[in-house]
Amino acid sequence: MPALPLQLDRASRSPLPAQLSAQIRELILAGTLARGSRLPSSRALAADLGVSRTVTELAYEQLVAEAWVESRRGSGTFVASPPGSTPRPVEARPIPTPETPVLVRLDAGTPWVDPRGVAGWRRAWREVSTAAPPRGYDDPRGLPELRAALAERLARTRGLTVDPDSIIVTAGTTDALRQLLPELPPGPVAIEDPGYRAAVETVRSFGRAVVDLPAGEPVTSLRGTVAAYVTPAHQHPLGLVMPASGRLSLLAAARAAGAIVVEDDYDSEFRYDVAPVPALASLDRERVAYIGTAAKSVIPTLRLGWLVPPPGVLEDIVRRREVTHAGAAWPSQRALLTLLRDGWVDKTVRAARRVYAERAPRVAAALAPYATLAGPLAGMYSCWLMPQATAVRVRDAARAAGFELNLLSSYARSSGPSGIVVGYGGVSDEELKRALRAIVGTLRASARPGIRSAALRMEE
Ligand SMILES: Cc1ncc(COP(=O)(O)O)c(C=O)c1O
Repeated sequence: MPALPLQLDRASRSPLPAQLSAQIRELILAGTLARGSRLPSSRALAADLGVSRTVTELAYEQLVAEAWVESRRGSGTFVASPPGSTPRPVEARPIPTPETPVLVRLDAGTPWVDPRGVAGWRRAWREVSTAAPPRGYDDPRGLPELRAALAERLARTRGLTVDPDSIIVTAGTTDALRQLLPELPPGPVAIEDPGYRAAVETVRSFGRAVVDLPAGEPVTSLRGTVAAYVTPAHQHPLGLVMPASGRLSLLAAARAAGAIVVEDDYDSEFRYDVAPVPALASLDRERVAYIGTAAKSVIPTLRLGWLVPPPGVLEDIVRRREVTHAGAAWPSQRALLTLLRDGWVDKTVRAARRVYAERAPRVAAALAPYATLAGPLAGMYSCWLMPQATAVRVRDAARAAGFELNLLSSYARSSGPSGIVVGYGGVSDEELKRALRAIVGTLRASARPGIRSAALRMEE
């Protein structure tokens, strides 16, 4: 029960029980103490106020006598209903029945979560409950031990050697972008097209224009922009990997324009054929802002990510975070620290990779006769090219079968490719089977010779 706003004045000539009953009366009249609400026990209130129990008992007795409160044997003292009023029955609220059934999302962003990880997950949160939180706002970069663990993991899994003090723990990817944008000179930001919609919205919300970078094509110029936001390890949503030549020309274009490159490294750990390509940031620490996330390796709702800004803006970001209290929530940081230290994250990533490695070819085998895979199989989704009319029919059929599917066109701004993006992380095997049945049924019905021969050429 929250403490009541009561204050007794020992210097006053008014006796303490009278002061107390008067103040409680005012709280009732002001509605601060609602009808039917329970008052603290006389013992607890006395302890709270630092007075003897006689004071609180006398005050309660007075209020009972005036019918402001009523005492119920064995259950406590309650604010009474005003005289003459009849208690309002608790309204039975109808349980809303959604008009449209809840759809299972086949989206690109939902990861598979290993059900065997539940014990480790609980252990991490138990540790949070027993650890002492920092007393103040603490380090604006985030928990030092967590940053050290992240630095170790970045070196081991992403070929990126960074000082823990150059890492900033954020509340996810777009939060990292929000930290970075105010430190850049005025000007537009280039973003892949089709590309990450949340990044586009974030950049625009800062009043900056977005320049379209055709996804999958080498970037030769960034003239007139201050940054390029890219997903080199797994282009979102086409799934392409940026080749070495593309990386070098992107960095050269950034250097020539005085722009930075923002590397969104969201799901690079989920390659099942080869080892992940090292982070672009490992090629140029001066020019690349690296962003990682716990959304795929743990869960999206943990809302944690990390930013390794170029050294030129690091201190400015830290200073701004300090004055704006922009730190990530301590309990989440503390839990992630345990999950990393215990090897839970490594284990979960390995298990999820095995699941995706089995599901991705299953999706590919079903769709390849009718559509063209846009990039190599990796991560927790694949992108399939097909005419827009077919894609819309497939989306509608999936919806009728209970699944939400994204059209490739929903990620596009001025680019033309059409198709569908099929996520296979956030569904069960059974759901995936049903979804594929709906998708393939529609594709088969829509199949035209041109698409079929393209698909066959791919299979050769
Ligand atoms: C391209 C891309 N980057 C990053 C993320 C993760 O975002 P956050 O860290 O804000 O959860 C996603 C999630 O789906 C994504 O698709």
